[in-house]
Amino acid sequence: MQKKNIYLNILFILFCAGLLAFLLRAPEETTAKMPHDKDHAAFFPMGKKEAEKHCQSCHNAEGVTFPADHPSKNRCLFCHKRN
Ligand code: HEC
Ligand code: HEC
Repeated sequence: MQKKNIYLNILFILFCAGLLAFLLRAPEETTAKMPHDKDHAAFFPMGKKEAEKHCQSCHNAEGVTFPADHPSKNRCLFCHKRN
């Protein structure tokens, strides 16, 4: 009984160490963050959904264009974190 518990504990610790190592090795985020400049300053204090209503007044085909392979544009701040 005693021995079995020790093995289970060791197994549990190894499992946690493995999980931690896995999480720490997750790739770094590479998506560009929303810049912290005068164009974007107003969006920092706002709620995300509120701020996202304004992005496409500048970010559109005639203004600041998107890369050709840009994914779905529904929730800007879901992918582009605020700096
Ligand atoms: C007033 C116009 C304007 C509005 C509104 C605006 N942007 Fe921008 N944004 C720009 C301009 C100009 C650039 C390109 C120059 C630069 O990098 O600052 C840019 C660049 C970016 C970039 C690219 C940064 C990089 O590293 O290349 C991201 C991401 C971005 N904006 C996200 C957003 C999001 C999200 C919103 C809405 C919350 C938003 N923008 C609203 C003008 C605007
Ligand atoms: C599903 C995730 C996603 C959403 C939602 C999204 N983007 Fe992007 N965006 C990307 C990826 C991925 C790239 C290209 C890789 C990068 O940014 O370095 C990109 C690139 C950009 C760039 C060019 C960045 C550069 O470095 O040249 C701008 C500007 C931009 N997005 C603005 C926006 C705006 C504004 C919205 C909302 C209308 C938006 N994005 C919504 C994922 C997303």
